[in-house]
Parts: sequence; C-alpha cells; structure tokens
Amino acid sequence: MIQKTDLNKLLLTLSLAMDFSRHGLMRHHQRVAFISLRIGEELGLTLEQKQKLFRAAVVHDAGVSTWREKSYLESFDLVNPWDHCRSGAQLFKSLDGIINISDIILYHHDRWDGASESGLASEAIPLESRIIHLADRVDVLVSRDACLLDQRDDVVAKIKSQSGVLFDPLLVEVLEQVAVKECFWFDLLSEFIQYQLEEDVATDFISLEMTDLLSLGEVFASIIDGKSAFTHRHSRLVSGVAGLLAGQMGYSRYRCDMMLLAGLMHDLGKLTIPENILEKPGTLDGSEYNLIKQHTYYTYKILGMIRGFEEIRDWAAFHHEKLDGNGYPFHLKHGQISHGSRIMAVADIYSALVEDRPYRNGMPEPKIKEILWNEVKRKHIDGEVVDALVRNIDGAREIYNRLKLAAGNFICCSNRV
Ligand SMILES: [Fe+2]
Ligand SMILES: [Fe+2]
Ligand SMILES: [Fe+2]
Repeated sequence: MIQKTDLNKLLLTLSLAMDFSRHGLMRHHQRVAFISLRIGEELGLTLEQKQKLFRAAVVHDAGVSTWREKSYLESFDLVNPWDHCRSGAQLFKSLDGIINISDIILYHHDRWDGASESGLASEAIPLESRIIHLADRVDVLVSRDACLLDQRDDVVAKIKSQSGVLFDPLLVEVLEQVAVKECFWFDLLSEFIQYQLEEDVATDFISLEMTDLLSLGEVFASIIDGKSAFTHRHSRLVSGVAGLLAGQMGYSRYRCDMMLLAGLMHDLGKLTIPENILEKPGTLDGSEYNLIKQHTYYTYKILGMIRGFEEIRDWAAFHHEKLDGNGYPFHLKHGQISHGSRIMAVADIYSALVEDRPYRNGMPEPKIKEILWNEVKRKHIDGEVVDALVRNIDGAREIYNRLKLAAGNFICCSNRV
C-alpha cells in the first residue's frame, strides 16, 4: 500500500527516464532544476516558491519524447521552440490541482522582449518560466567535454548578450553572481547533482490519492507512447487490460488501481531506446534487439528508486520474464514471478496482438487465443491468467475499441515491447 509519496522525489526520479538521448543519460532536467534553484535562492524565493520552481524545472521538457526533437533543442538559437512548450503544458494541465505547473511549462521559452508565440513580454511572463528559460539556455551552452570553469566566462558573456532580449535583465545579473562560485560549476556536472537536488528541496511527503497517482501515470504514459506513432496509447491499453484481469482474479479495488498504474508505467524504460529501433517495421538485428531488452531493465531501476513502489515496480518491469526462465532481463523463474507480474505479461502480449500495425491489422479473437494458449504450452506465461483473459475477452476488446475511438487514428505495432 502506498502510504505517502514524496512528490519531489517522484518527479525527480521519473524525469530521469526522460533524460536519455543519443548521448545516453543527459540529466538535462536535473541540471536545469539545479541552475534554477541556485538563481531562486539568490533571489530570496521562499521554500514554497522553490518547490514549485523545482517541480516545473525537473519536467519542463515533458512535451518532447523523441531524440530527434531533443537534439533540436540542444542548440542555443531556436526558431520555433513553442510546440513542445504547448504539448508539455497540455500534459500537466490535468495535474494542476496537485502541482500547478502547466503555465510555467507553457511559457518556459518566452522571450523577455515579447517576440514569442504567446505575445507575453517582460514581467507578464511567469517568474518561474523566466528562470527556467535562462537555466535551460545556460545548460545548452555548457560542454561536457571541457572543464566548466574554463567555459564560465564565455557562457556568462553569451547570456549577457541576450539580456533584455531573450532574458530578464535582473535574472542575468543574478546568474552573474551565482557564476562567481566555483562550486556552482563543479556541482553542475558532478555525479552528485541528484543528491544535491534531493537536499535542496526539503522532502515533501504528500498523501497523494490513488487518483492523483493515476493522473501522473497517465502523463508519463503519454510521454512514453509519444516516442512512436506506432505505440500510441499502448501503455493505456496494457494498463486497462491488466486492471480488468486483476479485478476478475479477485484483487481489491486498491490493488486493481495499483495494477492500472503499473500498466501505465510498464514501458517507461522505452524512453531510453532510439525511436528508429522502436519504429522499425521489420525484424530487428541482434544488437537492435539487445537495445530493446534494456527497456524493462530501466523500468525496474527507475521505478525502484521510488519508495513504496516496490510491488508496482515488479508488476511493471517483469512483463518480459517467462515462467521457464528464458525471459529478459532477469531470467526469473516460475516461483520468482509474482501473480501481478504474470497478469502484466499476458496483458502486454494480448495488447500487442490486438493492436494494428502498419503492415497488418490487429488479430481476431480466435487467433489471439491460439497464440496465448501456445505461449502457455511453451511455459512462457500463466495458464490461469490466460484463462481469465479468454473468459473476459469481450471486455478487453471493449477497452481497445474505446481507446481506438478516443485516439482517432490509432496504430500500435510493436509486439517487441
Ligand atoms: Fe530544456
Ligand atoms: Fe515491454
Ligand atoms: Fe509493452
């Protein structure tokens, strides 16, 4: 049972999943949060203001899922950065009752001089957005290949050249003061930045209702599924089917909700995989398949950092384990795979089979049942769970149809993830 959730730690942890790009784990969100907090501190913000600033900074690029878009945002001069601001704000709108950061995300690339899509200028732009904008641009100017202190003057000079144009002049002055301290630059690229952040924002244990956690799960499901047009809404489908099976197999309402949450997060680690592999329609070669295998590893590691999520982590991350021990990445065997994880594995396979792919339509029920029973025979998945699914196959199809209707053009191709 999830008692209390440390919301800051939760966002910090989940943002790690968003921070993979072609360079590996970039920690862009952590660094932007770190720079923002240093500026906020120098400005004398209250703890409450800093908490809000942190929460927005640590997920500010949630509107970007693909590595293509991430690469675009890495250059200093951006022509039209507002698409990802809009989609990020849209994602977090549903959480405004809990964290209220969607407007900050919406304006986080707004220019001080007002030449932005929103038309807002100077102090009409939320202060937190102005801080994050500046912090974000500092981070893209920094090279990870050279000593940061050697870069300090150039970075500050470049930012100063945009004072009153892109950036709030007062914040530029504050950055100059922050930049004097060597520790600021050492912290910025150190391995300790995550611990530093955890220290900075005093832990904030909040009793989140399960409905709030599910809303947060929906946000991350959208980010995960945004990686590829072919897996659009896949996480929601797996979540819905796993929740249905849990209910049919006697789980309590609360544990069914936990299952829904685990389903929304089951492919979280997919954010660490380049989209050209996720979207590849044909057979994967050996090294591409090896990369695919890391997705459940990262789902496990990232969810494992959140206290109270241990069971959800296991249900989510073991969906490619097989009862005979030949699954990945842990090669767990029969007795080591919990009932909840078995449900998730069946829900994932069912979803992959029922979904359309670019080169074939979703499969009809008789074919799906045949494949699932075959998997049972091969000692890959649990026969009782498959039996429960077969008895509720209409309910599962209904979930699929509902999502398909809601998504408009729904295509989901992968049976690999
Ligand atoms: Fe950014
Ligand atoms: Fe998967
Ligand atoms: Fe999946």
